[in-house]
Amino acid sequence: MLKETDIQKKNRLDFSTGWSYDPAPESTDHIAIKERYGHFINGEFVEPAEGEYFATINPSTEEKLAEVAMGSQADVDAAVKAARKAYTKTWSKMSGRDRGRYIYRIARLIQERAREFAVIETMDGGKPIRESRDVDVPLAAAHFFYYAGWADKLQYAFPGRRPEGIGVAGQIIPWNFPLLMAAWKIAPALATGNCVVLKPAETTPLTCLKLAEIIRDAGLPAGVVNIVTGAGDTGAAIVNHDDVDKIAFTGSTAVGKIIQKSIAGTPKKLTLELGGKAANIIFEDAAIDQAVEGIINGIFFNQGHVCCAGSRLFVQESIADIVRDKLVDRIETLRVGDPLDKNTDIGAINSKEQLETINRYLEIGLNEGADIYQSKCDLPEKGYWCCPTLVANVSQSHRIVQEEVFGPVLTIQTFRTPEEVLEKANNTPYGLSGGVWTDKGSKIFNMTTGIRAGVLWANTFNKFDATSPFGGYKESGLGREGGLHGLIPYLNL
Ligand code: NAI
Ligand code: MG
Repeated sequence: MLKETDIQKKNRLDFSTGWSYDPAPESTDHIAIKERYGHFINGEFVEPAEGEYFATINPSTEEKLAEVAMGSQADVDAAVKAARKAYTKTWSKMSGRDRGRYIYRIARLIQERAREFAVIETMDGGKPIRESRDVDVPLAAAHFFYYAGWADKLQYAFPGRRPEGIGVAGQIIPWNFPLLMAAWKIAPALATGNCVVLKPAETTPLTCLKLAEIIRDAGLPAGVVNIVTGAGDTGAAIVNHDDVDKIAFTGSTAVGKIIQKSIAGTPKKLTLELGGKAANIIFEDAAIDQAVEGIINGIFFNQGHVCCAGSRLFVQESIADIVRDKLVDRIETLRVGDPLDKNTDIGAINSKEQLETINRYLEIGLNEGADIYQSKCDLPEKGYWCCPTLVANVSQSHRIVQEEVFGPVLTIQTFRTPEEVLEKANNTPYGLSGGVWTDKGSKIFNMTTGIRAGVLWANTFNKFDATSPFGGYKESGLGREGGLHGLIPYLNL
Protein backbone atom coordinates (compact mmCIF):
# COMPACT_ATOMS: atom_id res chain seq x y z
CA MET A 1 0.00 0.00 0.00
CA LEU A 2 1.05 3.58 -0.58
CA LYS A 3 2.22 5.01 2.70
CA GLU A 4 -0.22 7.34 4.50
CA THR A 5 2.36 10.15 4.44
CA ASP A 6 2.76 9.61 0.73
CA ILE A 7 -0.92 10.06 0.12
CA GLN A 8 -0.86 13.14 2.38
CA LYS A 9 -4.00 12.16 4.23
CA LYS A 10 -4.37 15.64 5.64
CA ASN A 11 -5.29 17.06 2.26
CA ARG A 12 -7.88 14.42 1.38
CA LEU A 13 -11.04 15.77 -0.14
CA ASP A 14 -14.23 14.68 1.54
CA PHE A 15 -16.69 13.22 -0.94
CA SER A 16 -19.23 12.06 1.61
CA THR A 17 -22.25 14.12 0.61
CA GLY A 18 -24.73 11.70 2.09
CA TRP A 19 -26.06 11.22 -1.40
CA SER A 20 -25.89 7.96 -3.26
CA TYR A 21 -26.76 6.70 -6.72
CA ASP A 22 -29.82 4.57 -7.30
CA PRO A 23 -29.20 1.62 -9.57
CA ALA A 24 -29.76 2.55 -13.25
CA PRO A 25 -29.42 -0.75 -15.09
CA GLU A 26 -29.92 -0.99 -18.83
CA SER A 27 -32.73 -3.44 -19.52
CA THR A 28 -31.91 -6.82 -21.01
CA ASP A 29 -35.54 -7.70 -21.80
CA HIS A 30 -35.17 -7.15 -25.51
CA ILE A 31 -31.99 -9.20 -25.82
CA ALA A 32 -32.31 -12.43 -27.76
CA ILE A 33 -29.37 -14.73 -27.17
CA LYS A 34 -29.80 -18.25 -28.47
CA GLU A 35 -28.81 -21.19 -26.31
CA ARG A 36 -26.37 -22.38 -28.93
CA TYR A 37 -24.52 -20.86 -31.86
CA GLY A 38 -22.89 -22.73 -34.72
CA HIS A 39 -20.26 -21.25 -37.04
CA PHE A 40 -21.32 -18.79 -39.73
CA ILE A 41 -20.05 -20.41 -42.92
CA ASN A 42 -21.15 -19.81 -46.51
CA GLY A 43 -23.98 -17.51 -45.48
CA GLU A 44 -25.60 -19.70 -42.84
CA PHE A 45 -25.16 -20.91 -39.29
CA VAL A 46 -23.88 -24.50 -39.32
CA GLU A 47 -23.11 -27.06 -36.65
CA PRO A 48 -19.43 -27.72 -35.95
CA ALA A 49 -18.02 -30.73 -37.79
CA GLU A 50 -16.94 -32.42 -34.58
CA GLY A 51 -20.07 -31.41 -32.68
CA GLU A 52 -18.16 -29.68 -29.88
CA TYR A 53 -19.31 -26.54 -28.11
CA PHE A 54 -18.00 -24.36 -25.29
CA ALA A 55 -19.66 -21.83 -23.03
CA THR A 56 -19.28 -18.07 -22.95
CA ILE A 57 -20.13 -16.48 -19.63
CA ASN A 58 -20.97 -13.05 -18.28
CA PRO A 59 -17.85 -12.13 -16.26
CA SER A 60 -19.84 -9.87 -13.93
CA THR A 61 -22.18 -12.68 -12.81
CA GLU A 62 -20.28 -15.84 -13.86
CA GLU A 63 -23.54 -16.97 -15.50
CA LYS A 64 -23.46 -18.89 -18.75
CA LEU A 65 -24.86 -16.84 -21.64
CA ALA A 66 -24.68 -19.30 -24.51
CA GLU A 67 -22.76 -22.17 -26.03
CA VAL A 68 -20.71 -21.55 -29.13
CA ALA A 69 -19.13 -23.98 -31.57
CA MET A 70 -15.54 -25.12 -31.09
CA GLY A 71 -13.87 -24.73 -34.46
CA SER A 72 -11.89 -27.69 -35.75
CA GLN A 73 -9.61 -28.04 -38.77
CA ALA A 74 -12.63 -29.27 -40.78
CA ASP A 75 -14.64 -26.15 -39.86
CA VAL A 76 -11.78 -23.86 -40.84
CA ASP A 77 -11.37 -25.78 -44.12
CA ALA A 78 -15.07 -25.30 -44.88
CA ALA A 79 -14.90 -21.59 -44.07
CA VAL A 80 -11.80 -20.99 -46.19
CA LYS A 81 -13.33 -22.96 -49.06
CA ALA A 82 -16.49 -20.84 -48.89
CA ALA A 83 -14.44 -17.65 -48.78
CA ARG A 84 -12.30 -18.71 -51.76
CA LYS A 85 -15.36 -19.58 -53.81
CA ALA A 86 -17.07 -16.30 -52.97
CA TYR A 87 -13.89 -14.44 -53.86
CA THR A 88 -13.38 -16.00 -57.29
CA LYS A 89 -17.03 -16.30 -58.30
CA THR A 90 -18.57 -13.05 -57.05
CA TRP A 91 -16.81 -10.62 -54.75
CA SER A 92 -13.63 -9.98 -56.77
CA LYS A 93 -15.73 -9.47 -59.89
CA MET A 94 -18.18 -7.06 -58.30
CA SER A 95 -17.73 -3.32 -58.88
CA GLY A 96 -16.44 -1.24 -55.99
CA ARG A 97 -19.68 0.68 -56.10
CA ASP A 98 -21.74 -2.43 -55.43
CA ARG A 99 -19.37 -3.67 -52.75
CA GLY A 100 -19.71 -0.28 -51.08
CA ARG A 101 -23.49 -0.62 -51.01
CA TYR A 102 -23.28 -3.85 -49.04
CA ILE A 103 -20.82 -2.32 -46.58
CA TYR A 104 -23.09 0.73 -46.06
CA ARG A 105 -25.93 -1.65 -45.37
CA ILE A 106 -23.92 -3.39 -42.65
CA ALA A 107 -23.13 0.01 -41.09
CA ARG A 108 -26.77 1.06 -41.06
CA LEU A 109 -27.96 -2.25 -39.62
CA ILE A 110 -25.44 -1.89 -36.78
CA GLN A 111 -26.87 1.55 -36.07
CA GLU A 112 -30.41 0.20 -36.12
CA ARG A 113 -29.53 -2.50 -33.62
CA ALA A 114 -27.08 -0.38 -31.63
CA ARG A 115 -28.76 -0.84 -28.28
CA GLU A 116 -28.90 -4.62 -28.62
CA PHE A 117 -25.23 -4.74 -29.62
CA ALA A 118 -24.20 -2.54 -26.69
CA VAL A 119 -26.04 -4.66 -24.14
CA ILE A 120 -24.68 -7.95 -25.49
CA GLU A 121 -21.14 -6.56 -25.66
CA THR A 122 -21.42 -5.55 -22.01
CA MET A 123 -22.92 -8.87 -20.92
CA ASP A 124 -20.39 -11.02 -22.74
CA GLY A 125 -17.24 -9.04 -21.95
CA GLY A 126 -17.93 -7.06 -18.76
CA LYS A 127 -17.31 -3.53 -20.06
CA PRO A 128 -19.50 -0.66 -18.81
CA ILE A 129 -22.63 -0.07 -20.90
CA ARG A 130 -21.63 3.60 -21.09
CA GLU A 131 -18.57 2.58 -23.10
CA SER A 132 -20.13 -0.10 -25.29
CA ARG A 133 -23.03 2.27 -26.05
CA ASP A 134 -20.95 5.42 -26.66
CA VAL A 135 -17.69 4.04 -28.00
CA ASP A 136 -17.63 0.43 -29.23
CA VAL A 137 -20.85 0.31 -31.22
CA PRO A 138 -20.80 3.79 -32.81
CA LEU A 139 -17.14 3.39 -33.76
CA ALA A 140 -17.82 -0.03 -35.27
CA ALA A 141 -20.56 1.50 -37.45
CA ALA A 142 -18.25 4.39 -38.30
CA HIS A 143 -15.59 1.99 -39.60
CA PHE A 144 -18.07 0.33 -41.95
CA PHE A 145 -19.34 3.73 -43.15
CA TYR A 146 -15.80 4.99 -43.69
CA TYR A 147 -14.56 1.97 -45.65
CA ALA A 148 -17.79 1.75 -47.64
CA GLY A 149 -16.78 5.14 -48.96
CA TRP A 150 -13.41 3.88 -50.21
CA ALA A 151 -14.77 0.81 -52.01
CA ASP A 152 -15.31 2.61 -55.34
CA LYS A 153 -12.44 5.09 -54.96
CA LEU A 154 -9.41 2.85 -54.56
CA GLN A 155 -7.76 4.21 -57.70
CA TYR A 156 -7.91 7.71 -56.16
CA ALA A 157 -6.37 6.45 -52.94
CA PHE A 158 -3.43 5.08 -54.89
CA PRO A 159 -3.03 7.19 -58.03
CA GLY A 160 -1.05 5.60 -60.83
CA ARG A 161 -1.31 2.13 -59.27
CA ARG A 162 -3.72 -0.71 -59.95
CA PRO A 163 -5.18 -1.71 -56.59
CA GLU A 164 -6.46 -5.29 -56.47
CA GLY A 165 -7.75 -7.45 -53.63
CA ILE A 166 -5.54 -10.24 -52.36
CA GLY A 167 -8.03 -13.07 -51.88
CA VAL A 168 -8.92 -14.72 -48.57
CA ALA A 169 -8.06 -12.90 -45.33
CA GLY A 170 -7.79 -14.83 -42.06
CA GLN A 171 -8.56 -12.51 -39.15
CA ILE A 172 -8.10 -13.22 -35.45
CA ILE A 173 -9.30 -10.79 -32.83
CA PRO A 174 -9.06 -10.36 -29.04
CA TRP A 175 -11.63 -10.01 -26.28
CA ASN A 176 -11.21 -6.37 -25.27
CA PHE A 177 -13.19 -4.75 -28.14
CA PRO A 178 -14.93 -7.69 -29.85
CA LEU A 179 -17.35 -5.91 -32.21
CA LEU A 180 -15.03 -2.98 -32.83
CA MET A 181 -12.07 -5.21 -33.71
CA ALA A 182 -14.30 -7.23 -36.04
CA ALA A 183 -15.24 -3.94 -37.76
CA TRP A 184 -11.60 -2.84 -37.97
CA LYS A 185 -10.80 -6.12 -39.69
CA ILE A 186 -13.85 -6.83 -41.87
CA ALA A 187 -14.61 -3.33 -43.22
CA PRO A 188 -11.27 -2.64 -45.01
CA ALA A 189 -11.08 -6.26 -46.23
CA LEU A 190 -14.49 -6.02 -47.91
CA ALA A 191 -13.86 -2.55 -49.31
CA THR A 192 -10.73 -3.82 -51.07
CA GLY A 193 -12.53 -6.85 -52.52
CA ASN A 194 -11.31 -9.59 -50.19
CA CYS A 195 -13.29 -12.35 -48.49
CA VAL A 196 -12.91 -13.14 -44.83
CA VAL A 197 -12.62 -15.91 -42.26
CA LEU A 198 -12.74 -14.30 -38.82
CA LYS A 199 -12.30 -15.83 -35.39
CA PRO A 200 -13.48 -13.94 -32.31
CA ALA A 201 -11.86 -14.54 -28.90
CA GLU A 202 -13.17 -17.40 -26.80
CA THR A 203 -14.59 -15.25 -23.97
CA THR A 204 -16.43 -12.77 -26.22
CA PRO A 205 -17.89 -14.39 -29.35
CA LEU A 206 -21.48 -13.13 -29.13
CA THR A 207 -21.41 -9.74 -30.85
CA CYS A 208 -19.43 -11.25 -33.76
CA LEU A 209 -22.17 -13.86 -34.14
CA LYS A 210 -24.76 -11.08 -34.02
CA LEU A 211 -22.73 -9.29 -36.68
CA ALA A 212 -22.98 -12.49 -38.74
CA GLU A 213 -26.79 -12.15 -38.52
CA ILE A 214 -26.50 -8.60 -39.83
CA ILE A 215 -24.21 -9.69 -42.64
CA ARG A 216 -26.77 -12.32 -43.61
CA ASP A 217 -29.63 -9.78 -43.36
CA ALA A 218 -27.65 -7.31 -45.48
CA GLY A 219 -27.77 -9.90 -48.25
CA LEU A 220 -24.01 -10.25 -48.72
CA PRO A 221 -23.22 -13.07 -51.14
CA ALA A 222 -22.68 -16.35 -49.27
CA GLY A 223 -19.09 -16.94 -48.18
CA VAL A 224 -17.86 -13.34 -48.37
CA VAL A 225 -17.70 -13.22 -44.55
CA ASN A 226 -17.33 -16.40 -42.50
CA ILE A 227 -17.10 -16.48 -38.72
CA VAL A 228 -15.59 -19.48 -36.98
CA THR A 229 -15.56 -19.57 -33.19
CA GLY A 230 -13.02 -21.38 -31.04
CA ALA A 231 -9.82 -20.97 -29.08
CA GLY A 232 -6.10 -20.77 -29.91
CA ASP A 233 -6.04 -24.00 -31.95
CA THR A 234 -8.83 -22.71 -34.18
CA GLY A 235 -6.84 -19.50 -34.68
CA ALA A 236 -3.73 -21.50 -35.52
CA ALA A 237 -5.69 -23.55 -38.08
CA ILE A 238 -6.63 -20.29 -39.85
CA VAL A 239 -3.06 -18.98 -39.69
CA ASN A 240 -1.60 -22.19 -41.10
CA HIS A 241 -4.21 -22.79 -43.79
CA ASP A 242 -2.60 -23.03 -47.26
CA ASP A 243 -5.41 -21.22 -49.03
CA VAL A 244 -5.36 -18.10 -46.84
CA ASP A 245 -3.54 -15.14 -48.43
CA LYS A 246 -3.37 -12.70 -45.58
CA ILE A 247 -3.43 -12.81 -41.79
CA ALA A 248 -4.57 -9.92 -39.63
CA PHE A 249 -4.10 -10.49 -35.91
CA THR A 250 -4.81 -8.41 -32.82
CA GLY A 251 -3.82 -9.85 -29.46
CA SER A 252 -0.84 -10.59 -27.27
CA THR A 253 2.75 -10.11 -28.40
CA ALA A 254 3.47 -13.74 -27.48
CA VAL A 255 0.88 -15.10 -29.92
CA GLY A 256 1.88 -12.47 -32.50
CA LYS A 257 5.40 -13.91 -32.46
CA ILE A 258 4.10 -17.47 -32.87
CA ILE A 259 2.07 -16.35 -35.89
CA GLN A 260 5.01 -14.50 -37.41
CA LYS A 261 7.17 -17.61 -37.10
CA SER A 262 4.59 -19.97 -38.49
CA ILE A 263 3.96 -17.97 -41.67
CA ALA A 264 7.61 -17.09 -42.30
CA GLY A 265 8.61 -18.42 -45.72
CA THR A 266 5.04 -18.45 -47.03
CA PRO A 267 3.65 -15.77 -49.38
CA LYS A 268 1.05 -14.75 -46.77
CA LYS A 269 0.84 -11.07 -45.94
CA LEU A 270 0.70 -10.11 -42.27
CA THR A 271 -0.45 -7.31 -40.00
CA LEU A 272 -0.01 -7.55 -36.24
CA GLU A 273 -1.56 -5.29 -33.64
CA LEU A 274 -0.04 -6.37 -30.35
CA GLY A 275 0.51 -5.15 -26.82
CA GLY A 276 1.60 -1.80 -25.44
CA LYS A 277 2.84 0.04 -22.39
CA ALA A 278 2.16 3.64 -23.26
CA ALA A 279 3.79 6.60 -21.54
CA ASN A 280 1.42 9.37 -20.51
CA ILE A 281 3.61 12.44 -19.85
CA ILE A 282 2.44 15.39 -17.75
CA PHE A 283 4.54 18.58 -17.84
CA GLU A 284 4.34 21.20 -15.11
CA ASP A 285 2.74 23.70 -17.51
CA ALA A 286 -0.18 21.35 -18.30
CA ALA A 287 -3.77 22.14 -17.33
CA ILE A 288 -3.64 19.87 -14.32
CA ASP A 289 -7.31 19.02 -13.81
CA GLN A 290 -7.73 18.16 -17.48
CA ALA A 291 -4.55 16.11 -17.36
CA VAL A 292 -5.86 14.18 -14.34
CA GLU A 293 -9.04 13.35 -16.28
CA GLY A 294 -6.87 12.28 -19.20
CA ILE A 295 -4.79 10.04 -16.97
CA ILE A 296 -7.95 8.46 -15.53
CA ASN A 297 -9.47 7.90 -18.96
CA GLY A 298 -6.12 6.70 -20.31
CA ILE A 299 -5.78 3.84 -17.85
CA PHE A 300 -9.26 3.00 -16.57
CA PHE A 301 -11.17 3.02 -19.88
CA ASN A 302 -12.41 -0.56 -20.48
CA GLN A 303 -10.87 -1.71 -17.13
CA GLY A 304 -7.46 -1.04 -18.65
CA HIS A 305 -7.96 -3.88 -21.13
CA VAL A 306 -6.68 -1.61 -23.86
CA CYS A 307 -3.53 -2.18 -25.92
CA CYS A 308 -2.93 1.57 -26.14
CA ALA A 309 -3.78 2.28 -22.46
CA GLY A 310 -1.70 5.01 -20.81
CA SER A 311 -0.36 2.57 -18.23
CA ARG A 312 2.91 4.38 -17.43
CA LEU A 313 2.41 7.84 -15.98
CA PHE A 314 5.37 10.26 -16.02
CA VAL A 315 4.80 13.46 -14.00
CA GLN A 316 7.23 16.35 -13.89
CA GLU A 317 8.74 16.45 -10.42
CA SER A 318 7.50 19.93 -9.50
CA ILE A 319 3.85 18.85 -9.78
CA ALA A 320 4.22 15.20 -8.79
CA ASP A 321 2.62 15.55 -5.34
CA ILE A 322 -0.40 17.50 -6.47
CA VAL A 323 -1.07 15.21 -9.44
CA ARG A 324 -0.77 12.13 -7.27
CA ASP A 325 -3.09 13.59 -4.63
CA LYS A 326 -5.67 14.46 -7.24
CA LEU A 327 -5.41 10.95 -8.69
CA VAL A 328 -5.89 9.35 -5.29
CA ASP A 329 -8.97 11.53 -4.74
CA ARG A 330 -10.31 10.89 -8.21
CA ILE A 331 -10.11 7.10 -8.11
CA GLU A 332 -12.23 7.12 -4.96
CA THR A 333 -15.06 8.57 -7.05
CA LEU A 334 -14.88 5.90 -9.75
CA ARG A 335 -17.82 3.56 -9.56
CA VAL A 336 -16.89 -0.10 -9.93
CA GLY A 337 -19.65 -2.66 -10.38
CA ASP A 338 -22.56 -3.83 -12.53
CA PRO A 339 -21.43 -3.12 -16.09
CA LEU A 340 -25.07 -2.75 -17.21
CA ASP A 341 -25.56 0.16 -14.81
CA LYS A 342 -25.35 3.44 -16.70
CA ASN A 343 -23.45 5.06 -13.82
CA THR A 344 -20.70 2.46 -13.75
CA ASP A 345 -17.19 3.65 -14.61
CA ILE A 346 -15.32 0.37 -14.26
CA GLY A 347 -16.92 -2.94 -15.13
CA ALA A 348 -15.85 -6.54 -14.66
CA ILE A 349 -12.46 -7.96 -15.56
CA ASN A 350 -12.98 -9.96 -18.74
CA SER A 351 -12.13 -13.40 -17.36
CA LYS A 352 -10.90 -15.28 -14.32
CA GLU A 353 -7.59 -15.84 -16.14
CA GLN A 354 -7.11 -12.12 -16.78
CA LEU A 355 -7.92 -11.29 -13.15
CA GLU A 356 -5.28 -13.80 -12.09
CA THR A 357 -2.77 -12.18 -14.44
CA ILE A 358 -3.48 -8.75 -12.97
CA ASN A 359 -3.20 -9.99 -9.40
CA ARG A 360 0.03 -11.79 -10.24
CA TYR A 361 1.48 -8.50 -11.50
CA LEU A 362 0.37 -6.68 -8.34
CA GLU A 363 2.15 -9.30 -6.28
CA ILE A 364 5.27 -8.98 -8.42
CA GLY A 365 5.09 -5.21 -7.90
CA LEU A 366 4.78 -5.60 -4.12
CA ASN A 367 7.71 -8.01 -4.05
CA GLU A 368 9.76 -5.54 -6.06
CA GLY A 369 9.11 -2.93 -3.38
CA ALA A 370 6.41 -0.84 -5.07
CA ASP A 371 3.79 1.11 -3.10
CA ILE A 372 0.40 -0.05 -4.25
CA TYR A 373 -2.74 1.95 -3.60
CA GLN A 374 -6.26 0.76 -4.45
CA SER A 375 -9.49 2.72 -4.11
CA LYS A 376 -11.80 1.58 -1.35
CA CYS A 377 -14.54 0.25 -3.57
CA ASP A 378 -17.19 -2.30 -2.62
CA LEU A 379 -17.03 -5.20 -5.02
CA PRO A 380 -19.94 -7.48 -5.94
CA GLU A 381 -19.68 -10.99 -4.52
CA LYS A 382 -19.81 -12.82 -7.83
CA GLY A 383 -17.78 -12.04 -10.90
CA TYR A 384 -14.24 -10.84 -11.55
CA TRP A 385 -13.27 -7.41 -10.23
CA CYS A 386 -10.28 -5.19 -9.67
CA CYS A 387 -10.40 -1.78 -7.97
CA PRO A 388 -8.57 1.09 -9.69
CA THR A 389 -4.94 0.77 -8.69
CA LEU A 390 -2.01 3.20 -8.47
CA VAL A 391 1.55 1.91 -8.23
CA ALA A 392 4.20 4.31 -6.95
CA ASN A 393 7.84 4.06 -5.89
CA VAL A 394 8.81 2.16 -9.01
CA SER A 395 11.71 2.51 -11.44
CA GLN A 396 12.34 1.63 -15.06
CA SER A 397 13.58 -1.84 -14.18
CA HIS A 398 10.43 -2.94 -12.30
CA ARG A 399 8.56 -5.64 -14.18
CA ILE A 400 5.28 -3.91 -13.43
CA VAL A 401 6.67 -0.88 -15.33
CA GLN A 402 8.01 -2.92 -18.24
CA GLU A 403 5.32 -5.54 -18.91
CA GLU A 404 1.74 -5.23 -20.11
CA VAL A 405 -0.66 -5.77 -17.16
CA PHE A 406 -3.83 -5.19 -19.22
CA GLY A 407 -5.86 -4.13 -16.20
CA PRO A 408 -6.81 -1.00 -14.19
CA VAL A 409 -3.26 -0.54 -12.92
CA LEU A 410 -1.26 2.68 -13.35
CA THR A 411 2.44 3.03 -12.52
CA ILE A 412 3.59 6.50 -11.49
CA GLN A 413 7.10 7.85 -12.09
CA THR A 414 8.58 11.34 -12.10
CA PHE A 415 11.02 13.22 -14.33
CA ARG A 416 12.82 16.56 -14.44
CA THR A 417 13.70 17.31 -18.08
CA PRO A 418 12.17 16.57 -21.47
CA GLU A 419 15.31 14.61 -22.43
CA GLU A 420 14.98 12.42 -19.36
CA VAL A 421 11.31 11.62 -19.94
CA LEU A 422 11.88 10.85 -23.61
CA GLU A 423 14.51 8.32 -22.69
CA LYS A 424 12.24 6.76 -20.06
CA ALA A 425 9.20 6.75 -22.34
CA ASN A 426 11.15 4.94 -25.06
CA ASN A 427 12.74 2.48 -22.66
CA THR A 428 10.21 -0.27 -23.40
CA PRO A 429 9.99 -3.12 -25.88
CA TYR A 430 6.60 -1.72 -26.97
CA GLY A 431 5.77 1.25 -29.19
CA LEU A 432 2.03 1.53 -29.67
CA SER A 433 0.86 4.83 -28.22
CA GLY A 434 1.68 7.75 -25.95
CA GLY A 435 0.32 10.98 -24.52
CA VAL A 436 1.74 14.44 -23.76
CA TRP A 437 0.12 17.11 -21.61
CA THR A 438 1.55 20.62 -21.84
CA ASP A 439 0.59 24.20 -22.58
CA LYS A 440 3.44 24.54 -25.11
CA GLY A 441 3.01 23.52 -28.74
CA SER A 442 6.79 23.30 -29.10
CA LYS A 443 6.98 20.69 -26.35
CA ILE A 444 4.23 18.72 -28.04
CA PHE A 445 6.20 18.61 -31.29
CA ASN A 446 9.39 17.84 -29.44
CA MET A 447 7.82 14.90 -27.61
CA THR A 448 5.66 13.49 -30.37
CA THR A 449 8.60 13.39 -32.78
CA GLY A 450 10.78 11.79 -30.12
CA ILE A 451 8.47 9.10 -28.78
CA ARG A 452 8.75 5.95 -30.84
CA ALA A 453 5.09 4.94 -30.96
CA GLY A 454 2.50 4.65 -33.70
CA VAL A 455 -0.24 6.74 -32.07
CA LEU A 456 0.36 9.90 -30.06
CA TRP A 457 -2.17 12.12 -28.34
CA ALA A 458 -1.55 15.67 -27.10
CA ASN A 459 -3.71 17.04 -24.27
CA THR A 460 -6.12 14.16 -24.73
CA PHE A 461 -5.98 10.35 -24.67
CA ASN A 462 -7.73 7.30 -26.14
CA LYS A 463 -9.33 9.18 -29.00
CA PHE A 464 -10.17 7.00 -31.97
CA ASP A 465 -11.41 7.78 -35.44
CA ALA A 466 -12.03 5.58 -38.47
CA THR A 467 -10.09 8.01 -40.68
CA SER A 468 -6.94 7.81 -38.57
CA PRO A 469 -4.37 5.03 -38.92
CA PHE A 470 -3.58 2.97 -35.81
CA GLY A 471 -0.70 0.59 -35.17
CA GLY A 472 2.64 0.08 -33.51
CA TYR A 473 6.41 -0.03 -33.67
CA LYS A 474 8.76 -2.59 -32.15
CA GLU A 475 6.95 -5.39 -30.24
CA SER A 476 3.62 -3.61 -30.63
CA GLY A 477 3.28 -4.98 -34.12
CA LEU A 478 3.43 -4.05 -37.78
CA GLY A 479 1.09 -2.53 -40.35
CA ARG A 480 -1.67 0.01 -39.81
CA GLU A 481 -5.43 -0.31 -39.42
CA GLY A 482 -7.85 2.56 -40.04
CA GLY A 483 -7.64 5.44 -42.47
CA LEU A 484 -6.25 5.22 -45.98
CA HIS A 485 -3.25 3.33 -44.59
CA GLY A 486 -5.62 0.58 -43.45
CA LEU A 487 -6.40 -0.27 -47.09
CA ILE A 488 -2.79 -1.09 -47.98
CA PRO A 489 -2.45 -4.47 -46.18
CA TYR A 490 -5.46 -5.78 -48.12
CA LEU A 491 -4.26 -4.78 -51.59
CA ASN A 492 -1.81 -5.78 -54.24
CA LEU A 493 -0.70 -2.47 -55.65
P1 NAI B 1 -4.19 -14.04 -26.96
O1 NAI B 1 -3.19 -13.31 -27.80
O2 NAI B 1 -3.91 -15.44 -26.59
O3 NAI B 1 -5.62 -14.05 -27.71
C1 NAI B 1 -5.98 -13.24 -28.79
C2 NAI B 1 -6.64 -14.06 -29.89
O4 NAI B 1 -5.70 -14.96 -30.45
C3 NAI B 1 -7.80 -14.92 -29.41
O5 NAI B 1 -8.80 -14.93 -30.41
C4 NAI B 1 -7.17 -16.30 -29.28
O6 NAI B 1 -8.08 -17.35 -29.42
C5 NAI B 1 -6.19 -16.30 -30.45
N1 NAI B 1 -5.06 -17.20 -30.34
C6 NAI B 1 -4.48 -17.71 -29.22
N2 NAI B 1 -3.43 -18.49 -29.55
C7 NAI B 1 -3.35 -18.50 -30.90
C8 NAI B 1 -2.47 -19.13 -31.84
N3 NAI B 1 -1.46 -19.88 -31.45
N4 NAI B 1 -2.67 -18.90 -33.16
C9 NAI B 1 -3.68 -18.12 -33.58
N5 NAI B 1 -4.54 -17.51 -32.74
C10 NAI B 1 -4.39 -17.69 -31.42
O7 NAI B 1 -4.47 -13.17 -25.67
P2 NAI B 1 -5.01 -13.68 -24.24
O8 NAI B 1 -4.36 -14.95 -23.84
O9 NAI B 1 -6.48 -13.66 -24.27
O10 NAI B 1 -4.47 -12.52 -23.29
C11 NAI B 1 -3.18 -12.60 -22.71
C12 NAI B 1 -2.52 -11.25 -22.65
O11 NAI B 1 -2.38 -10.73 -23.96
C13 NAI B 1 -3.30 -10.18 -21.91
O12 NAI B 1 -3.05 -10.20 -20.56
C14 NAI B 1 -2.80 -8.92 -22.56
O13 NAI B 1 -1.62 -8.50 -21.93
C15 NAI B 1 -2.49 -9.34 -23.97
N6 NAI B 1 -3.56 -8.96 -24.92
C16 NAI B 1 -3.38 -7.87 -25.68
C17 NAI B 1 -4.36 -7.45 -26.54
C18 NAI B 1 -4.18 -6.25 -27.37
O14 NAI B 1 -5.15 -5.70 -27.88
N7 NAI B 1 -2.97 -5.79 -27.58
C19 NAI B 1 -5.64 -8.16 -26.65
C20 NAI B 1 -5.72 -9.34 -25.84
C21 NAI B 1 -4.72 -9.69 -25.00
MG1 MG C 1 -18.15 -14.00 -22.29
